[in-house]
Amino acid sequence: MDQVVALCKRKGFIFPSSEIYGGFSNTWDYGPYGTELKKNIKDFWWHTFVQKRDDVTGLDSAILMNPKIWEASGHISSFSDPLIDCKNCKERVRGDKLIEENIGIEAAVGKSLKEISKIIKDKKLKCPKCGKIDFTEARSFNLMFKTHQGVIEETAAAVYLRPETAQGIFVNFKNVVQNCRQRIPFGIAQIGKAFRNEITPGNFTFRTREFEQMEIEYFVSPKDKKSIKEKFDEWKEICRKWYLDLGIKKDNLRYREHAKDELSHYSSMTFDIEFMFPFGWGELMGLAYRGDFDLTQHQKFSGQNLEYQDPMTNEKYMPHVIEPSFGADRTVLVVLLNAYDEDEIGGEKRVVMRLDPKIAPVKAAVFPLIKKPELTKVAQKLYKELQETFNVEYDESAAIGKRYRRQDEIGTPFCITVDFESLEDKKATVRDRDTTKQKRINLDEIKEFLKEKIYAK
Ligand code: GAP
Repeated sequence: MDQVVALCKRKGFIFPSSEIYGGFSNTWDYGPYGTELKKNIKDFWWHTFVQKRDDVTGLDSAILMNPKIWEASGHISSFSDPLIDCKNCKERVRGDKLIEENIGIEAAVGKSLKEISKIIKDKKLKCPKCGKIDFTEARSFNLMFKTHQGVIEETAAAVYLRPETAQGIFVNFKNVVQNCRQRIPFGIAQIGKAFRNEITPGNFTFRTREFEQMEIEYFVSPKDKKSIKEKFDEWKEICRKWYLDLGIKKDNLRYREHAKDELSHYSSMTFDIEFMFPFGWGELMGLAYRGDFDLTQHQKFSGQNLEYQDPMTNEKYMPHVIEPSFGADRTVLVVLLNAYDEDEIGGEKRVVMRLDPKIAPVKAAVFPLIKKPELTKVAQKLYKELQETFNVEYDESAAIGKRYRRQDEIGTPFCITVDFESLEDKKATVRDRDTTKQKRINLDEIKEFLKEKIYAK
């Protein structure tokens, strides 16, 4: 993790936020290459799950919504963590996490506030900061960020920053059905920011207070339980395949089913896809069966009929929901961890990011062998042509080996060198990042070559 964090800073993938003011705990900013990488991942997600499917449609809903939504969704009453304070050093910790880290996950899941306090006392768990055994009783801490709408804070209504993008989808269900010619089974997808006042953020961008989600609410008929199960299993496999298509190593992924007492308040079945992080297995995305919980609640609280009417049979029912929920930032982190590699080229250590070409921030770099006008002219021309189609870089500084290393470190799959021979044979040398093998390709065929290599899979 330390190597990846250092590379992210050094190469402009991810910076600590507000750094010139001494930082701001657990917030991160994406630099030029990180922004490209994250955008490519989100585009690939959108392409896979929205554009390439007839049964999923997109949405971009507001972050600030009517506060009643959070009453209806259960987030005001149930979206909380058990918080304890060390009486000695005032450190604030999540009681369940303290138990999980000291005793194991099974000891922590589904425990009431009273049970958490008792376990911490009985097992004499120490404060992770000062080592003392002197905690307050556990109390419930709501994770939603509260703010105010309107100019005068005291009189204005409290509103919340959304803790999941999902609710924007549920409250637009009727609009989509009435206006977008979608018929069940169908899904609504959204990518957007979510906010949670996490008590224990950390592990780089793994858990932060501001993050981006990529979610689908997939609406199915409640009638046929067997086909719901089949659809759920189908989604399980599709989600895993998406990560494999991103180039994540198979052995570093696994499913984990939530125990009954670990389930979120809206779910009756959840499977996580987990990744083997440097700190152990951790959640990458969740697939939940939310039943008709959300639509029923919104119907109750809004007074609007949210039932679906089947256009063939005229039958009315409240749809059930299968929800694949991906974290965009967590996916970026996993992609970076998965890609980091070190090897040796000609006796020299090399750091190489083996990013899948379709999500690499820079697809190709064009170099003149040396800075001579006859070479830079050809190289610039090629660079400009490629720039029409790909994000490419041009570099004429330093020795060629050094330029290769720079591109290897940011995961550029191809480097193209124009040399004196190019002036005669109208070819350039194309070097493959992973194998370092080189081959001569006609200048006017390089674009097609790159297209095929980058987007073939
Ligand atoms: N709508 C369902 C939902 O929000 P979740 O398991 O709480 O479910 C889904 O979140 C995904 O969002 C997680 O698997 C993770 O990838 C990402 N996520 C959740 N909390 C996060 C946080 N504090 N920081 C970064 N990513 C987070």
